[in-house]
Amino acid sequence: MRNLIDILDLSVEEIDELISVANDIIADPVKYSESCKGKILATLFFEPSTRTRLSFEAAMLNLGGSVLGFSEAGSSSTAKGESVADTIRTVNCYADIIAMRHPKEGAPIVASKASHIPIINAGDGGHFHPTQTLTDLLTISRHKGRLNDLTIGLCGDLKFGRTVHSLIAAFARYSGIKFVLISPEELRVPEYVKTETLDKKGIPYREVKTLEEAMPELDILYMTRIQRERFADPAEYERLKNSFVLDLEKLEHAKKDLCIMHPLPRVNEISTKVDSDPRACYFDQALCGKYIRMALILKLLAETPVPCSLDEHEEELVNKVFCDNPRCITSVEQEIDHIFHYTDKENGVCRCAYCEAQTKI
Ligand code: CP
Repeated sequence: MRNLIDILDLSVEEIDELISVANDIIADPVKYSESCKGKILATLFFEPSTRTRLSFEAAMLNLGGSVLGFSEAGSSSTAKGESVADTIRTVNCYADIIAMRHPKEGAPIVASKASHIPIINAGDGGHFHPTQTLTDLLTISRHKGRLNDLTIGLCGDLKFGRTVHSLIAAFARYSGIKFVLISPEELRVPEYVKTETLDKKGIPYREVKTLEEAMPELDILYMTRIQRERFADPAEYERLKNSFVLDLEKLEHAKKDLCIMHPLPRVNEISTKVDSDPRACYFDQALCGKYIRMALILKLLAETPVPCSLDEHEEELVNKVFCDNPRCITSVEQEIDHIFHYTDKENGVCRCAYCEAQTKI
């Protein structure tokens, strides 16, 4: 089967096709209303969600299929110590496709290795959120009419904000893209995203500390929440939580056709007064999430099997290096192999296959 773990599991052509199908669904939803009759989507949410889980469920229901699942780890046998792999093997008996969210980075990779039905990563810790990226791409293409030649401001928690990491990876494949990375020093985009995506692909970017210095040049402003649940130190969260608040005053310096986005939930990053500004796109973005997930479910259920992308690297470093990232799935699942890929073999630099934590051997 085909999984979606990372946005890069989809080619640009496949993303274009998903956007095209989503637009067709928006234009004629009745045409698709029985497309998944008899099929079951399992939504396994080990971490809270409103939009992602409910839009997946609405997507499957609107396709004529059915849904089952759980919305918190505590109501599943995870609370009794069941592993991710065993949970997935069990759900394989009851469903045709799985959307899962898990607080540990790399958990969907573990799931995909235990599954013979498609796994969709609905967010793994601070790592990736590929279906949010598909949602964002559909929203931008509908509002701007293009996915190239854009200056994109990413603002807030760029360290733990998984939507940001997936969005940068996706836009790195389009032309004429510039990024302005707006964050406090402590919450900058991780180094590996800069070196291995932005620098490697020659994508122009600059890092700034205020919204004001970025605003006039932006076509897209992508606000994000400071991710309280990812902070080891609550005092550090309290210090940083109100770093950025977008209000009407700051928007006075923005382009008239700026597209203001936010994956939501917002806490305090966007004043509610901005909601009625025609440039506010974030609730339309939430709606786009349902349509692009309908297109994705249709695609994955129709696909023939391809091997898990991890397999081709397995011979590299298996149980020779151990991941010490406490947010990695290897920190809680005792049975799984620790797998590293070399990123610079000559200098012994390698990266965890699950969470991408870098180390040197
Ligand atoms: N955007 C997003 O992932 O929202 P939820 O956490 O509500 O699913």
